[in-house]
Amino acid sequence: MDHFLYRDGVLHAEDVPVADIAAAVGTPFYVYSTATLLRHFRLFDEALEGMDHLVCYAMKAASNQAILKTLGDAGAGMDVVSGGEYRRARAAGIPGERIVFSGVGKTADEIRTALEGGIRQFNVESEPEMEVLSAVAVSLGKVAPITIRVNPDVDAKTHAKIATGKSENKFGIPIARARAVYAHAASLAGIDVIGIDVHIGSQLTDLAPFEMAYQKVADLTEQLRADGHVIRRLDLGGGLGIPYERSNAAPPLPTDYGAMVKRTLGHLNCEIEIEPGRLIAGNAGLMVSKVIYVKSGEGRDFLILDGAMNDLIRPAMYDAYHDIIPVNEPDAGAEQQPYDVVGPVCESGDTFAKQRMLPHLAADDLVAFRSAGAYGAVMSSEYNSRPLIPEVLVKGDQFAVIRRRPTFDEMINRDTIPEWV
Ligand code: LLP
Repeated sequence: MDHFLYRDGVLHAEDVPVADIAAAVGTPFYVYSTATLLRHFRLFDEALEGMDHLVCYAMKAASNQAILKTLGDAGAGMDVVSGGEYRRARAAGIPGERIVFSGVGKTADEIRTALEGGIRQFNVESEPEMEVLSAVAVSLGKVAPITIRVNPDVDAKTHAKIATGKSENKFGIPIARARAVYAHAASLAGIDVIGIDVHIGSQLTDLAPFEMAYQKVADLTEQLRADGHVIRRLDLGGGLGIPYERSNAAPPLPTDYGAMVKRTLGHLNCEIEIEPGRLIAGNAGLMVSKVIYVKSGEGRDFLILDGAMNDLIRPAMYDAYHDIIPVNEPDAGAEQQPYDVVGPVCESGDTFAKQRMLPHLAADDLVAFRSAGAYGAVMSSEYNSRPLIPEVLVKGDQFAVIRRRPTFDEMINRDTIPEWV
């Protein structure tokens, strides 16, 4: 459920007409709903009620500080994957003890930044990383709390580019080697092993792969405890999918997920962490764009928008489906026609949808891409020298620009031409 609904024939973001935002900031832009962000965070928080837990929002999904602060003030922790994300979370006021550092290639500099600034735990992904982490911690006179990410070799049954839990993926240590790696970790002076981490992929629409992975984590917990390790925290990653296409069966809800976590891991008395990104931010954001031209091609009509693949890359990168709706509500029973919905970037991959049924649209009409809040703005680029598009946050009847559109000069003046050119 989200808070983007038609009211009096116009699409609203909570209580704000989307067309008013377009008039104020120009198109294209991203708009997020505070109520939707908070609702989704709380669904997870409540789903784990009764277990000691922390929901660490995977900020890679949408990392504007206004979003981080909104969630942080509600009690969320953050899952970060780079020194930049760590700094951004801290700048948004998230305390170090609520920040988890994930990622397959943390550099010594990034590790130092987090150790100096305060960190809840590092999710370690390899033995070389463990050694560097220990050495940096010792050099700072600190001991780093860690979990070790295990690769359970489970098929997440999602798009190949976002599956992470199979043995051929670069993530984690093979679960079969876990006992040896934990023994190694226990011998390092700068490290305090506190738990296990697992994350098998993103946009999972079935609980079975999660359950299979978590069952393996449960077995491993018992084994490692028997080996003498203190396993008191389990980080279960993120990955629960969202309904992009309304006609498809809805993925399981956070409550179903929470019940499964309790069923598979509840008896271990561990503190549980989860790292959802998409389910918190995905349906909390729209990308709004304007029709520049409607062009008749050979047997098809192209809807040419001012938004492009550089602004929302998911369709080009993952063949992802995003619902596209007109900002002015079509009359009930309005005739529809198929359009190829495209952007102005100079490659055919700049196609949002092919033969999508939409009501008749004309130049200057506004359209909204639904479910664009996660992996939208954060994955945008300036390809074709198109400035990054603004982000707007709505709360009730108020809205604010939370990242403004840079000027062309700001974008262009980042280049320097050496005097010898
Ligand atoms: N934890 C870890 C260690 C992750 O790698 C990820 C996502 C998450 C948590 C959050 O997963 P979520 O709950 O959002 O599914 N750009 C792609 C998605 C990449 C996901 C990467 N890792 C897309 O647009 O579909």
